[in-house]
Amino acid sequence: MFRRFALLLLTLSFIFTAPQAIQAQSSNDPWWKHAVIYEIYPRSFQDSNGDGIGDLNGITSRLDYLKDLGIDAIWVTPFFPSPQIDFGYDVSDYTAVDPQFGTMADFDRLVNEAQKRNIRVIVDFVPNHTSDQHAWFKESRSSRDNPKRDWYVWRDGKRPGEPPNNWQSWFGHSAWQFDSTTDQYYYHHFYVQQPDLNWRNSQVQNAMYGVMRFWLKRGAAGFRIDAVSRLFEDPNLHDDPILPGHNAYGDPNIQHKYTDNLPEVHDILKEFRKIADSFPRNPVLISEADEPSIGELTKMYGKNNDEVQLPMDFQIADINKLSAREFRRLLEEVNNNPVGGQPHYFFSNHDQPRQWDRYGDGVHNDQIAKLMAALLLTTRATPQMYYGEEIGMKTTPPARKEDVQDPIGKIGWPEEKGRDGERTPMQWDSSKNAGFSSSNKPWLPVPPTATQVNVKTELRDPASTLNFYKKLISLRRTVPALRDGDQKMINFDEENVLAFVRKDAKTGDAVLVALNMTAENKTLKVDSSQLDLKAGTGKTLVPNTKTSIRLDNLTLKPFEVLIARVQ
Ligand code: GLC
Repeated sequence: MFRRFALLLLTLSFIFTAPQAIQAQSSNDPWWKHAVIYEIYPRSFQDSNGDGIGDLNGITSRLDYLKDLGIDAIWVTPFFPSPQIDFGYDVSDYTAVDPQFGTMADFDRLVNEAQKRNIRVIVDFVPNHTSDQHAWFKESRSSRDNPKRDWYVWRDGKRPGEPPNNWQSWFGHSAWQFDSTTDQYYYHHFYVQQPDLNWRNSQVQNAMYGVMRFWLKRGAAGFRIDAVSRLFEDPNLHDDPILPGHNAYGDPNIQHKYTDNLPEVHDILKEFRKIADSFPRNPVLISEADEPSIGELTKMYGKNNDEVQLPMDFQIADINKLSAREFRRLLEEVNNNPVGGQPHYFFSNHDQPRQWDRYGDGVHNDQIAKLMAALLLTTRATPQMYYGEEIGMKTTPPARKEDVQDPIGKIGWPEEKGRDGERTPMQWDSSKNAGFSSSNKPWLPVPPTATQVNVKTELRDPASTLNFYKKLISLRRTVPALRDGDQKMINFDEENVLAFVRKDAKTGDAVLVALNMTAENKTLKVDSSQLDLKAGTGKTLVPNTKTSIRLDNLTLKPFEVLIARVQ
């Protein structure tokens, strides 16, 4: 009896103290301000049942690794029931788990086990479109007077055989699909099998708000919101302006003027935020925000900071070359955004070729991977990593069209090979399938690099990319200037060295970060008088030699990362 009572007390004390324990770490700031967020593509992270596809239990089994790496939150891309045309981004039921990824009990266990390790679980929310196999769409397409007809965007063609206008799918060709059941077209911004929901319909809005509440009640720490700038389309169906040239699918280039970033999006973002704010523990909203400018991006914070807390900064992710000047310009712009929103950076994700080869020069890729890690983890921002970047995984696209899994690779081959290359299985060790799966045929092949580039090997090597990430993440946590400091760019005229100082007003702690973005030695003279640094000296934190430096005479080796406490 007593043992049962003690067990109950223990369980209750876990339920009631665990959230506060997480909160206590982060002073008065919301947790996401100091978090390192790690994106997991569940198909590719860890397979626990040998079917060749990663799953939720696989993620749970790797939580200790993530804890050791220093991760505060994982964003798990869609694991909901889906025909998997777009590998989960075609959702056929928003409030369930696809059996290939596990069960709802597995999700609950993931959240609980993560919480024990102070890791939060962020769920992917796909509001723009459903699968064509969703019950809502099946009803909607069944007749013109079905109560769910208006839940999607149905229109007559311009003329027989001609779509309503020239809007194009992001994934190639017309964005309109003719449906002979009712002789009308439906609109799909992405694949034909992903009909867009009609966000002008209040029943759709309420249904989707219900989805958010469902996952927040189950312990989600917030959402990464998919394709949110595409929620609304021009009701008058104006044609989009045609631009010069053709895209990889052979269509004329167009400006998605009448389907992207309509002002109504912000009304919905405000509602999303109200829902998030009505739950305890500061749930976070992260928007996929491939906006045309930092100005558009920062609108997503909301005029009164009442929309998303972390709009993903594609402007910085899309620089695609080592340009100190470009990084400086964009970092400054977003750092000084008018509403004081928190910058949110990443360089790799499940839609972008991996940074190891995107920024690598073919010779110094490992050094450059460390440089990019420093850029991500020392700037004033909430950083987001993509599984495998911490070990320097490279993009491994399919060699033959017949091996392609991602439909855009089939439509656009060979110019567009699709996104399989950045979705290959996580490389854990040098055993069968790199420790990802016991299956004889994982859903995507394990890259041959896995024999050398894997977690187990890198953990043993003090100079590995993985240990570099661990070091930087721990510095972010422990050095006041890197955790709380402001950020001042310096030496604006440098073409190839990005340098900035982080300074914590409370403690006076100051850190200089200098990143040499070339294969040559560089010297740097920092004018310390402008920085209120009296001595003009410092001691290095990275490389970890505690070497003394003088700010007016710094030498950086090719692609060197210098991080130093300065005074
Ligand atoms: C987002 C996702 C991408 C998906 C698309 C359609 O861009 O990141 O993977 O294909 O939305 O849902």
